[in-house]
Amino acid sequence: MLLEALRLRDFRNLRGIDIEPHSRFNLLTGANGQGKTNLLEGIYLLSAVKSFRQKTTNRNLINFEGEQAILEARIRRGGHVRKVRIEISEGGKKVYLNGESVRNLSDFFGTLNVVIFGPEDIGILKGSPSRRRHFIDRAIFNAHPAYGTESMHYDDVLKNRNALLKTPRLDESLLAVYDDQFIEWGTKILRRRLDFIEHFRPVLRRTFRSIFSADLEANIAYDISWIDGRFDEAQALEEEGYLEALLEHSLRASAGGERERGYTLVGPHRDDLKATLDGRDMRAFASQGQTRAFVLAMKIAEVTHLEERYHFAPILLLDDVSSELDRERTKKLFAFLKGRAEGQVFITTTHRDHIPLDDELKWFEIHGGAVSTTDH
Ligand SMILES: Nc1ncnc2c1ncn2[C@@H]1O[C@H](COP(=O)(O)OP(=O)(O)O)[C@@H](O)[C@H]1O
Ligand SMILES: [Mg+2]
Repeated sequence: MLLEALRLRDFRNLRGIDIEPHSRFNLLTGANGQGKTNLLEGIYLLSAVKSFRQKTTNRNLINFEGEQAILEARIRRGGHVRKVRIEISEGGKKVYLNGESVRNLSDFFGTLNVVIFGPEDIGILKGSPSRRRHFIDRAIFNAHPAYGTESMHYDDVLKNRNALLKTPRLDESLLAVYDDQFIEWGTKILRRRLDFIEHFRPVLRRTFRSIFSADLEANIAYDISWIDGRFDEAQALEEEGYLEALLEHSLRASAGGERERGYTLVGPHRDDLKATLDGRDMRAFASQGQTRAFVLAMKIAEVTHLEERYHFAPILLLDDVSSELDRERTKKLFAFLKGRAEGQVFITTTHRDHIPLDDELKWFEIHGGAVSTTDH
């Protein structure tokens, strides 16, 4: 997968960007506040149609002095070239694929796959469960574009169900309809996540071992807090109807509490990932170095998992990584990047010297939202 051309108009402080990236490494250098992360955000948006920055509005994405932001890319995958275009105005986003308006995002998702790694990713382990759910959901989305719309369906049912649970006189027949939808979409989400974990786990284990010198076993487990007793991941995947029954039973068991509190107490929106080293909870016991190595391993494993299981190389966006990783870890990361047979990478940095790359690269200097190409 290659981003052959990128064009941005009035996107944040990037008023007019036209670049033709290198098929391998693209270095974006510049001082702080010049627009490096914004450029990565633009690429990310062309993939996910939303930003990776939390709580951003359409207005924030459009240049302070503009009315509309335009993002365009030419993407090559296999023998095919596709053109994507996103127009952002205050009222909403319009998506185009090869010049045609996209009505259903499920027709668009999967056109461009990106994996981003930036300084705030340390929060995957240290932050709230929602950060870990976001990690797993992004990873699945890259493998199965349909997951993007499945998650939206689940979120919609959840929202409707929660609104209904808050009404003073509960419409039981409507609740029964929502329950069916909730179980249907909830099961899909759970199955995708468990399937992901099963295949991701060995890749993570191997990756962690290769980047962290001590012989520790990294592990990750899907953590469901809303069921009593033990949860058997393998059984849940193998046994037909297991997850449906689990959700149905749990909804019934929590019916009283739900009515009291006015929201849904069970389901994948409450779940978490539990990361351990040699069986010990990362969150409670890990040193900062171990935490960073673990997060790096998760990101590298996310890419490797896509390459090995789905046979394609996503585009990597590395935002200021050398500021977050120590020298040893930075070396491991770049060894991994150079060792990939293919795969396009965009790397931002304030200091060229931080990036140990000499070959197969293009260098872009970003200053005040404008880009110039240099060759040293
Ligand atoms: N909608 C916008 N219009 C104009 N400038 C913006 C907008 N949103 C953010 N910016 C500017 O973008 C700059 C930050 O860009 P960023 O890409 O995060 O910098 P860095 O190069 O450090 O990664 C800030 O100066 C900020 O004011
Ligand atoms: Mg930045």
